[in-house]
Amino acid sequence: KSVKIFSPASVANVGPGYDTFGFAIDGLGDVITLTARDDEQLHILPAEGADLPTDPKNNVATVAIQALLDHLGSKQGMDIHIKKLFKPGSGLGSSASSASGAVFAANELLGRPLAVEALLPFALEGEALASKSYHADNVAPALLGGFQAVRSYDPLELFCIPTPENLSVLIIFPDVQVKTAEAKGLVPKELSVAEAREQWGNIGALIHAMHTSDYDLMRSAITDRIAEPVRKKLIPAYDTVKKAVMEKGAVGFNISGSGPSMFALFKNAEDAQGCQSSIKEIYEKQDLNVLLHLSQIN
Ligand code: HSE
Repeated sequence: KSVKIFSPASVANVGPGYDTFGFAIDGLGDVITLTARDDEQLHILPAEGADLPTDPKNNVATVAIQALLDHLGSKQGMDIHIKKLFKPGSGLGSSASSASGAVFAANELLGRPLAVEALLPFALEGEALASKSYHADNVAPALLGGFQAVRSYDPLELFCIPTPENLSVLIIFPDVQVKTAEAKGLVPKELSVAEAREQWGNIGALIHAMHTSDYDLMRSAITDRIAEPVRKKLIPAYDTVKKAVMEKGAVGFNISGSGPSMFALFKNAEDAQGCQSSIKEIYEKQDLNVLLHLSQIN
């Protein structure tokens, strides 16, 4: 028996939602194939599109599957094949895509013993291996789709934020690598009340803007006091790209996850066309390749 699934890439830390807001995108992600084995082994086949660890204790997919099997008291062996359609370390939730997809596929292979929402803690086990932290803002949208908000980590509670129908996302990925575990270390441990007040004002505003399609509010709410100021230094030409994209009509811009990818929101796909040549020019001057990917929140 075999199961083949697609697990999407995702944008985490959406504006003020550090470790809290994330949405899934289309077109980038992992294609994962699980095949049942007659023995009890979890065996990782050579991956396509990336060089992933083949030791089951060091691979996010098998760590997540093993956590699920332990919970179920199952010893089902599986062959695991991952085809990656985007680069790990790009800020688009690569480990979450593998961990979430792996537990989803394993649950299907086992005859769906658990509801999809109940798989989240096992996907988080895999995510924690790669990023050395329990953050659910990639895993939740990768597993459940759409725009997910983590209301609480203990206990783990999520809710889904509706988004305007034609809202489009432009992913901008300059070809440099940023490790989530390192980027985590830059984030301040404390905030002043004045800073926190600004942040929770923007959180409320962003949720309201998504519900009501209030693009002016969205534009001003997608800002961040916590990660953006310290992490943007790791991203070449961040301020220049942000300025150019906002001037061309974006209704929001920020770092995707821990970077180096950035995301820009537009009212519709046509609006997102205008800024692409400016972005390419900026990175040509820096002698850096940039990948642009237009998507919907999915
Ligand atoms: N919320 C996580 C972080 C996302 O900022 O570290 C990592 O992709």
